Amino acid sequence: MGWDAASLPDASGRTVVITGANAGVGYFTAEQLARAGAHVVLACRDPERAEAAVSAIRRRVTRASVEAMPLDVTDRRSIDAAAEAILEHGTVDALVLNAGIVHPPRSRRTDDEGNELVLSTNVLGHFRLVARALPALTSAPDARVVTLGSLASRLGRLRLDDLQLERSYTSWRAYAGSKIAAQAFGFELDRRFRASATPVRSIVVHPGYSTSGRTPGIRGVNQPTRLKRFADNLQAAWTQGKDDGAHVPVRAVLDADIEGGDYLGPALWTKGAPVHAPATRASRSPRLGARLWPLLEQASGQPFALL
Ligand SMILES: NC(=O)c1ccc[n+]([C@@H]2O[C@H](COP(=O)([O-])OP(=O)(O)OC[C@H]3O[C@@H](n4cnc5c(N)ncnc54)[C@H](OP(=O)(O)O)[C@@H]3O)[C@@H](O)[C@H]2O)c1
Repeated sequence: MGWDAASLPDASGRTVVITGANAGVGYFTAEQLARAGAHVVLACRDPERAEAAVSAIRRRVTRASVEAMPLDVTDRRSIDAAAEAILEHGTVDALVLNAGIVHPPRSRRTDDEGNELVLSTNVLGHFRLVARALPALTSAPDARVVTLGSLASRLGRLRLDDLQLERSYTSWRAYAGSKIAAQAFGFELDRRFRASATPVRSIVVHPGYSTSGRTPGIRGVNQPTRLKRFADNLQAAWTQGKDDGAHVPVRAVLDADIEGGDYLGPALWTKGAPVHAPATRASRSPRLGARLWPLLEQASGQPFALL
């Protein structure tokens, strides 16, 4: 089925929570959904950056319904408080797991629990958040969890025997491994939703190659230097703005025809309209998903039983 990102279906009455929504793909996902009429909750770790993003959406979208919620996905207390706030909201129609470290540190770092920071940010915090906030989704008629994967999932491998990269850290392994794990989590979540007849769709997306230098400037949200604009524009043939990258998660949230277990990305791999895309065998593997799940439970300190 076709999809016109410039003409979205009416989303009024729906509530969408987006993690890491003060910048990048997350911000534009929030702005586009607010324009479609959804109530959008920006779950962000820095109150000032969150407020700048909320103000920007209010400036740019007439009658936007938008609010900020504190969330640091590497901090268990913050995750648990956000999950509580989501449950208090009542019904939530979609949870977009977007927050991420895209430029990992050169040497291995850990969060307060001792978990490797990129895995913690890109996977573990979201795992705990979904487990705790799930009742808010199951009460919605057409609820979705949308996980941000990456094309990087095609270029690396997930080391289940060294998930925290204690023996083999490089920044690239950390990023690619975390994104394979994020995708494997999203697909395993879909299998578990189906097996337990939980009425929620788990959809995995990737935004291609979306750079800030190719993205509209917005005060407090996206202010690339001239040099960054120049450098990013040199790659224009195979990149797009983060506003265009956001078309993929937005479709996953709004398109009634998208099923649980679907994988979406830009039509031309790194750029283009949001379409169905092929996910790697590894990230779709039920065997890998089943082995990963208990490791995520253990590292996030969060049992997550659906069956
Ligand atoms: N851009 C691409 O080409 C691309 C390609 C493939 C996949 N992706 C995925 O798409 C997602 C967004 O990427 P992006 O390019 O938009 O990145 P970005 O511009 O760097 O934005 C990342 C967002 O995540 C937030 N974040 C980071 N750590 C956090 C934490 N501990 N708690 C809460 N929020 C946190 C950041 O908040 P702060 O402002 O506070 O740091 C920011 O809002 C990521 O999951 C990324 O892996 C992007």
